[in-house]
Amino acid sequence: MSTIDYQERIPNNVGLSSDRKLQRALEKWQPAFLEWWSDMGPEGFQASDVYLRTAISAEPGGWAVFDHVKMPDYRWGIFLADQDPDRKIHFGDHIGEPVWQEVPGEYRNILRRIIVTQADTEPASVEQQRYLAKTAPSLYDMRNLFQVNVEEGRHLWAMVYLLHAYFGRDGRDEAEELLARRAGDVDKPRMLDAFNQECQDWLTFFCFTMFTDRDGKYQLAALAESGFDPLARTCSFMLTEEAHHLSVGELGMQRIIERSAELSMLDPNGDARAQGGIDMATLQKWINYWFSYSIDLFGSEVSSNAADFFGAGIKGRYREASLWDEHTALEQFVTLDTISGGRISREEIPLRNAMNEVLRSEYIKDTERVLRRWNKALAKLDYPGQITLPDRKFHRRQGLYAGLHFTPQGELIDQATFEARRHEWLPTDEDRAYVRSLMVPVHEPGQCAHWIKAPHRGINRQPVEFEYVRP
Ligand SMILES: [Fe+2]
Ligand SMILES: [Fe+2]
Repeated sequence: MSTIDYQERIPNNVGLSSDRKLQRALEKWQPAFLEWWSDMGPEGFQASDVYLRTAISAEPGGWAVFDHVKMPDYRWGIFLADQDPDRKIHFGDHIGEPVWQEVPGEYRNILRRIIVTQADTEPASVEQQRYLAKTAPSLYDMRNLFQVNVEEGRHLWAMVYLLHAYFGRDGRDEAEELLARRAGDVDKPRMLDAFNQECQDWLTFFCFTMFTDRDGKYQLAALAESGFDPLARTCSFMLTEEAHHLSVGELGMQRIIERSAELSMLDPNGDARAQGGIDMATLQKWINYWFSYSIDLFGSEVSSNAADFFGAGIKGRYREASLWDEHTALEQFVTLDTISGGRISREEIPLRNAMNEVLRSEYIKDTERVLRRWNKALAKLDYPGQITLPDRKFHRRQGLYAGLHFTPQGELIDQATFEARRHEWLPTDEDRAYVRSLMVPVHEPGQCAHWIKAPHRGINRQPVEFEYVRP
């Protein structure tokens, strides 16, 4: 087990001090990163003491240190899961060959593109979330937001390390560009659509961490299988951080859903809004919106790029080694809905070309598991309704179903019908204004906003009323 050296300017477990050139390059990038953090990181709380966790080793259990830290003093660093010297490529066309410790020339461009695309999402989400702390529903939630934010910053470090260490000049240029693009900017937007959306309310934040960070989990898991070993090891470690982001989203949503049920059952007309909460219909619209945006991130259902990535041994399936028996993915097919002549029909697609869809399906299964937990919580409260996921074809802007219109149940409809019913399925301006009107700060220890249930338990065995952020 490798421990992390916190004595160095850039904490790392990659022996940075033995590669002077790389160390110098990264030390040059570091002040630019800090400047970006102070410009685009959480607004207004940079001088506060925040109860943050820091990794002490690259093992899954290596999270022992929790302490009050000012965010700009957070020790962002480079942590890779330990190397397995006998590791072999275990899928695609190179099965059985030793994994690569350097970038193979023929795959240089696709690897760079994959790394840059992943990297771009990390600072983007920090930018999207930068005003949220001002309206945090509790100090507990504010601290979780900041923990997610500093870790997304660290994920940027993880990717920038790969770019600097393995892609020479091009990599250094890309690393600079990562600090130049801005979420939602008209001239220099972030690369992916979901990462240019606004995040001005906490319902959106919890949807984002529930649905969009979960895309991150699946992308990282697919890359953790990679034959390019440094990428696989980086992503393995990032996954341990990502798990926390997902739990922030899942539990945050559950607290809102439970409050919504309680308030609606309290109200004579069953209206949670009349009781100062968020009604279930509005929650469902947010879920429809963020689920559909997030599954777009997996890319096109039928993709020759995806086939190439798999064949090259660069991007595997979710848990390629343990969930699947056959690892060439040749002469196999996936059946999916295609549209022709205004009708949905089923078509067989060669498995390698359907890798995006295979990963999306794993994501959907995972999301369905969370919905079952939410619905169980609703049943426990004797609430008569349920939360559902829309069909994967609903409200898509990428892939086979983009430009077409479907109901949340997956029925093909025309544009006029969709537009006429849009307000039933997706957030309206009025819904957004209402949700925003609830976003008033509750920054007293142990207190929580009315529209969301207080958390069950605190962080790291601290009580709920612990001062997770000190002003
Ligand atoms: Fe991340
Ligand atoms: Fe994340």
